Amino acid sequence: MTVESVRPADPEASEPSEPPLAGGAVPMLGHGWKLVRDPLAFMARLRDHGDVVRLKLGPKTVYAVTTPELTGALALSTDYIIAGPLWESLEGLLGHEGVATANGSLHRRQRRTVQPAFRLDAIPAYGPVMEEEAHALTERWRPGETLDCTSEAFRVAVRVAARCLLHGEYMDERAERLCTALATVFRGMYRRMVVPLGPLYRLPLPANREFNRALADLHLLVDEIIAERRASGRKPDDLLTALLEAKDENGDPIGEQEIHDQVVAILTPGSETVASTIMWLLQILATHPEQAARVRAEVESVTGGRPVGFEDVRGLTHTNNLVVETMRLRPAVWILTRRAVTETELGGFSIPAGADIVYSPYAIQRDARSYPDHLEFDPDRWLPDRAKDVPKYAMSPFGVGNRKCPSDHFSMAQLTLITAAVSAKYRFEQVSGSNDATRVGITLRPNRLLVRPVPW
Ligand code: HEM
Repeated sequence: MTVESVRPADPEASEPSEPPLAGGAVPMLGHGWKLVRDPLAFMARLRDHGDVVRLKLGPKTVYAVTTPELTGALALSTDYIIAGPLWESLEGLLGHEGVATANGSLHRRQRRTVQPAFRLDAIPAYGPVMEEEAHALTERWRPGETLDCTSEAFRVAVRVAARCLLHGEYMDERAERLCTALATVFRGMYRRMVVPLGPLYRLPLPANREFNRALADLHLLVDEIIAERRASGRKPDDLLTALLEAKDENGDPIGEQEIHDQVVAILTPGSETVASTIMWLLQILATHPEQAARVRAEVESVTGGRPVGFEDVRGLTHTNNLVVETMRLRPAVWILTRRAVTETELGGFSIPAGADIVYSPYAIQRDARSYPDHLEFDPDRWLPDRAKDVPKYAMSPFGVGNRKCPSDHFSMAQLTLITAAVSAKYRFEQVSGSNDATRVGITLRPNRLLVRPVPW
């Protein structure tokens, strides 16, 4: 690709300049065809064209931010809100009144409601459920059988999120239904985002009917969970109680629709992202046997052979570094978008009001300018004396600023525990028919990872 009009920002210039147009645009489609054909390679090459570049998606101009420093500035600035194509496609799923899609004062109030459930000091209370689910996963497996990692990973991710955040006996059967519904809905949402065929998705075709059924079941499940909790009169100290007791700006209880949207907006990002990361962790363990052996050795040395528990997580530093390195090279969230609320400036470039801006944690985290041997899987790069050389915002898989994932500690604890529990018992081999190439959807995950657990 070539840069067609490079106008580097001049720090001395008083007026910000227009960002350069990335090369390779074709008439009518602009850069859209490249973004559809190979989105990861396309995003990863954009930094060669400038720190901020313009992209043409059909008739529309979108701005891409390509350096760690500027993605941090973008995420921390109040000139940009959550909006853009990714969020618009997700709104059909997440609703308009949930924490993941709301902006401004509504968003601030909602964050205040959900945040306590994810605070560092709240996480140990989830320890017993995380432990139980991590061990239940390995107990489900029989040595040598073929595991479909997509369904196994979804299952444990949904169960942990639902059981920890929405306590309840009913969760066992519901978690299974949630998994099925969420997996179908996510597949359909991504299709609608990249191939926006509008009315065609309303035709009574089998795929559309399946999508609609799954979406309806998801909303029905959430209504059932809320109704059941209300009827029980119980008020356990969990996220659902916090939502049911939340008050709006006037001190009145929040509406039914908002409670519903909040539950959906927390369960959905929570299951897809964690599930994708678990799939990648199993892929890494299967393709890097020396790393699997190191994790097992660390677990043994920390636990002395007893089943690994939540209280061991802090001591599992290598396992934690392996999780971080997996998230660096194979981040679940690979693209994020914002919208400028006002005419503004970024890195010396002008951004018009209303502009959509995209950036890619995938591209940032694989950039040779930030990481030596950037494509090498090397968990030791996260040892403290090496990690200090990583540029600020070059590793932010949970985002930055007021939209940062509330669940960073929660997710890291469960991912480390699950990796430790499965590695203590098994090593993994990919079996024939497995396809671990990257599948680009709303998240990144392996196409169809099939592995065989082999006892050590
Ligand atoms: C590997 C696991 C996860 C990753 C990589 C991840 C990543 C992210 C990222 C990058 C964002 C910020 C989006 C942006 O800046 O535009 C985000 C937001 C969010 N995440 Fe996560 N997430 C994970 C797990 C979870 C879990 C387990 C939950 C809930 C149970 C969750 C709930 C949310 C919510 C509610 C938001 C919206 C926050 C807001 O807009 O204020 N995430 N996540």
